[in-house]
Amino acid sequence: MKNPIAVFGSINMDLVVYSSTKPKDGETILGKTFETFLGGKGANQAVACSRLGSNVSFVGKVGNDLYGELLREKLNSENIDTELLGLHDGESGVALINVVESTSQNQIIVVPGANSHTRSEQMSDQVLSSTDILISQMEVESKEIEKLFLRAKERNCYRILNVAPALTLSNSLFSETDLFVVNEIELESLTKKSIQMDCLESIKESIESMSLNNQQSIVVTLGSNGVYIYQNNQYEFIESHKVDAIDTTGSGDCFIGALASCLSEKHDLLEAAVFANKAAAISVTKKGASSSMPTTQEVLKFG
Ligand code: RIB
Repeated sequence: MKNPIAVFGSINMDLVVYSSTKPKDGETILGKTFETFLGGKGANQAVACSRLGSNVSFVGKVGNDLYGELLREKLNSENIDTELLGLHDGESGVALINVVESTSQNQIIVVPGANSHTRSEQMSDQVLSSTDILISQMEVESKEIEKLFLRAKERNCYRILNVAPALTLSNSLFSETDLFVVNEIELESLTKKSIQMDCLESIKESIESMSLNNQQSIVVTLGSNGVYIYQNNQYEFIESHKVDAIDTTGSGDCFIGALASCLSEKHDLLEAAVFANKAAAISVTKKGASSSMPTTQEVLKFG
């Protein structure tokens, strides 16, 4: 099957506790509720693409444990092509997530498990040739992303890298990326410069220090401070939408999936970011990561 979008990345079982505060070092607190969700930045981005009507393939690995089976079933139930989902003889990736209800913010610890065994060879040259957009994030080995991006370039795939979690990139991975998508923490880590969230000059200075070439672009998502887009030496700014957030987990993933889905329908980067900004605003009004991804109808209704 030809899928215009492929996500090469992580898949985790998210173990989520909702609590009214977060514990201090050495403290035990009582949580309010506990839920499990399909998660992992890669899987969440694939779910966002699929719910928005794109044919998407997920390339990653699950373990041969109970979570592995459940994760595969969940991807299938979201109409995601799992033909290239591999099986690792070991544990699946898990994420421990605490969501503080009063702020809707979270802390996440990921244990990569099977994700660390995801390999670029899982995607053949033939599959790459029928892929228009390839998305990855930093929860799988960066040298595997690098190898895949190099091969993808020869097959004219547009390569999107979500530099999350914030890690230092090799020069090769940096130069093999067409579009970077980062939040404020990731931008600071990429550029080794601290930024002022509400100051265009500060964001510009950081982006300029990256010395992107003419084919490279960057989108910086700043939560309630909006979205900056840099492309062809031009900056654009999109304001954030005011919503009642209950859980921000996966909102960045929603943004990226929606962005890719829109780009695959030949919209330009600004149009795609406007659409993605709405999708991400909807996602924070629902619990969980992949479970919070909206459908096209919901985004259109949003306005
Ligand atoms: O971006 C949110 C995701 O980060 C969660 O689903 C968790 O699994 C971690 O990968």
